[in-house]
Amino acid sequence: MPGKYDYSLLESALFFAPARYSAARLKTALAGKTVLITGASYGIGEELVDELAGTGAHLILVARTGEKLEALKKLVDENGGRATVFAVDLTKKDEVEELLGELGRLPAGVDVFVSNAGKSIRRPLYESLDRFHDFERTMALNYFAPVRLALGLIPALEKNKGQIVNVSAVNTALAPAPYWAAYQASKTAFDQWFRCAAPELERRGIAPTSVYLPLVRTRMIEPTAAYRNAPAMHPRHVARIICRLLLTRRRRFAPWWLFPAEVASAVFRRPWEAIAARFVD
Ligand SMILES: NC(=O)c1ccc[n+]([C@@H]2O[C@H](COP(=O)([O-])OP(=O)(O)OC[C@H]3O[C@@H](n4cnc5c(N)ncnc54)[C@H](OP(=O)(O)O)[C@@H]3O)[C@@H](O)[C@H]2O)c1
Repeated sequence: MPGKYDYSLLESALFFAPARYSAARLKTALAGKTVLITGASYGIGEELVDELAGTGAHLILVARTGEKLEALKKLVDENGGRATVFAVDLTKKDEVEELLGELGRLPAGVDVFVSNAGKSIRRPLYESLDRFHDFERTMALNYFAPVRLALGLIPALEKNKGQIVNVSAVNTALAPAPYWAAYQASKTAFDQWFRCAAPELERRGIAPTSVYLPLVRTRMIEPTAAYRNAPAMHPRHVARIICRLLLTRRRRFAPWWLFPAEVASAVFRRPWEAIAARFVD
C-alpha cells in the first residue's frame, strides 16, 4: 500500500487509507456501464483512466487537452476497453450544453459521473483587485460546470441506479486560508451543493460520494513553492481509493485526521484568524 507510492514515514502516517479493491469485482460491477470522468487528461483523472482501462467499462473522457485524451483512449483500447473523448472547456456554458447533448444520445446514459476537473488559484486579495476573472473562472469550473452536468445527468443516473463522485478537498471542511479565496470558495460551493442534494439523490437510488483530499502531487500544486516538499498523496493512490468507492458506494472518504482537524478549526477559530492576519502581507 502506501509504501509503493514512495511515501515518507510522515506521508505513510498521514495518508494511510485502504486503497485495495478486487479488480475482478470492479470489472463485474462496471460491465456494460458508462463512466464519465471530467479532468481526465492529467493528474488524478489520468491515473483513474489508467486504473479503469482494463475494466471494460465505456469511459467518457472530458478535458481541454484533446491530444492527451486521444492518447488515453489509445491506452484504453489497448486494454480491450472502450473510450470516447470530448475536448471541452468546462468553463464555457455552450460547450457544457453541447457535451450534455452528446451524453443524452447514449442509448443507456451515464452510470457513474466522476466530477474531477478543477482549477486552483493561490493569489493574495491585493493582487486580485483587477482580476475578477479569477473568481469567475474558478466558479465556472469548480461549481457551475459540475452543477450543470449533474442536473443534466440525474435522470439517467436515477434510471441506472448510478453514482456521482465529487473529488473535493479537505480545505472545504477546515478554517479558510488566506490567498485561497477563489479556489476555496468555489470548491466549498460545490461541496455544499452536493451535500444538500445528497439525501434526495440517495432516496432515488443514486449514490452521492464525496472524496476529501489533502495535497496530491499533481501539476495543480506545482506553482506553489511551499508545497514542493510538503507531504502529498500520490494521484495513483487517490485513483485506487476512487475505484474502491465505486464498489462500496460509500458516502464519504476523508483522511483519518480530517475530523480532529475540523474540531480544531472550530475550537481555535479566533486564535487562527489572529495569527493568519499577522502573517499575510
Ligand atoms: N492536487 C491537489 O493537491 C488536490 C487537493 C484536493 C483536491 N484536488 C482536486 O482534485 C481534482 C483533480 O485535480 P488534479 O490535482 O488532478 O489537478 P490537475 O493535474 O491539474 O488536473 C486537473 C484536470 O482538470 C482539467 N481541467 C482544468 N480546467 C479545465 C477546463 N476549463 N475544462 C475542462 N477540464 C479542465 C485538466 O485538463 P485540461 O488542462 O486538459 O483541460 C485536468 O485534466 C480537482 O477537482 C482538484 O480540486 C486536488
